[in-house]
Amino acid sequence: MSSRPFRIAPSILSADFARLGDEVRAIAEAGADYIHIDVMDGHFVPNISFGAPIMKAVRGVTDKVFDCHLMIAPTDAYLADFAKGGADIITVHAEAGPHLHRSLQAIRGLGKKAGVAINPATPVSAIQHIIDDVDLVLIMSVNPGFGGQSFIPASLDKVRQANALIGGRSVDLEVDGGVSASNALALREAGANVLVAGSAIFAGNDPATYAARIAAIRDAATSRTV
Ligand code: DX5
Ligand code: ZN
Repeated sequence: MSSRPFRIAPSILSADFARLGDEVRAIAEAGADYIHIDVMDGHFVPNISFGAPIMKAVRGVTDKVFDCHLMIAPTDAYLADFAKGGADIITVHAEAGPHLHRSLQAIRGLGKKAGVAINPATPVSAIQHIIDDVDLVLIMSVNPGFGGQSFIPASLDKVRQANALIGGRSVDLEVDGGVSASNALALREAGANVLVAGSAIFAGNDPATYAARIAAIRDAATSRTV
């Protein structure tokens, strides 16, 4: 299990976009640690969400870490926009282009934390040679593109492998897709320290429910000290 601090990152992909600022404020006040920002281009993934201007529009609502997950290809031409728009962590997919190392260097060159994400079919070995160039590893536990999908069980073993690869480094190990209170403990025991949750927190879009849902995931994940 990870000794890194445990964090919950609600994904605003499942927020009510008509009230996005209020939704971000509500999850921040409800106990979110990171705000997970899912950017989709309709090319790298079969869905379009929003870009840097929308993220920038809600940046002023909270001081929480903006954890920006770019599901776009190519990435490099847009990194500066996300850095200027207020992202704290910028995560690119290992599958998004041929020059992952260059993209990670560019993110750090912009003064931001660099993350790498891998899709369900991509082995953890794909990131072994850039592990010293990242601040966050994101294991996708669904095929990226949509909220509300079922957790892919084989992801758990990939979390264990990524945890071993990270070793003693100060690198967040994040899991994204189909996360809920029911699998939070297994994920934490496998080594994950950042859990992304979209539908498990935002379903129904009633801000009165957010604190209890975040607490349920946190309580489940931290219910046992291993
Ligand atoms: C999927 C996104 C996820 C998504 C998670 O492509 O990267 O962040 O919003 O949603 P849930 O938690 O509903 O699977
Ligand atoms: Zn995501």
